[in-house]
Amino acid sequence: MPRLQDKIALITGSAAGIGLATAQLFAAEGAHVYITDVDGEGAAKAAAELTGRGLGATAMTVDVSRGQDVSALMRTIEQQHKKLDVVVNNAGINVRTDFRNMSDADWVRLREVNLDGIIRIARDAFPLMKASGRASLVNLASIMGHRGMRTLAAYGATKGAISALTRGLAVEFAPFGIRVNALAPGFIETALTERVLRIDAFSKALIEQTPLRRFGTAEDVAQAVLFFASDESAFITGAELAVDGGMQAML
Ligand code: NAI
Repeated sequence: MPRLQDKIALITGSAAGIGLATAQLFAAEGAHVYITDVDGEGAAKAAAELTGRGLGATAMTVDVSRGQDVSALMRTIEQQHKKLDVVVNNAGINVRTDFRNMSDADWVRLREVNLDGIIRIARDAFPLMKASGRASLVNLASIMGHRGMRTLAAYGATKGAISALTRGLAVEFAPFGIRVNALAPGFIETALTERVLRIDAFSKALIEQTPLRRFGTAEDVAQAVLFFASDESAFITGAELAVDGGMQAML
């Protein structure tokens, strides 16, 4: 039996990368997926590909940093399905810059998408997750919330906050049947990392720090999201799973 049969799932930032791989896997496992992204065209294309195969998908243009987009999204799901069984807070950006030269605008944008967006989605999706009676919220944190790397201090700060938020929400939402967990991916080959992983010496050094000796794929992460989304993790809440080929474990 498919692992998400008849579940209603919302995935933010799901026109590309980890979000898209997750939406595709969820739909194949029987869920109706809301594919939402600031890139509305990409979201529509991804949803059309799934509905063309007879799978359940709805596309919406949603910038998680805009309160009115998120409110409109929740109203639509309320009207169409009246509940949310799975929410994946995946939308995220990176601003790679020498910390000393980072502009206020760069920091505000990073925070608005990576942190304010997750907080807004978790808060506004709460009534719909409560209506499910058995919901799972999965947040995309990062290895950078636990380790330092040049040019990634501010990004890491937003991701470390997501780890803390996950634990707090796990405690606060448990009485309502909502589990909350996080993933901490290492280096995954997507558009987010494409430019830096193309730098040969950097790439080589990263692989040497990865016991499994490769970068991750969006599908590697999607499989871990599916575990937290499904009843296979029914007694797990407030946890964070590293999906990093062993990078965090290595001295
Ligand atoms: P990606 O850049 O390939 O895809 C991100 C998607 O989010 C894009 O479709 C983009 O249009 C969308 N997006 C960006 N800003 C948005 C906004 N304001 N509202 C809605 N959608 C928005 O990124 P990737 O690699 O798939 O990352 C997904 C998540 O995983 C992010 O939260 C990222 O921080 C996290 N992550 C990624 C790692 C990696 O190595 N790729 C490692 C650790 C964490």
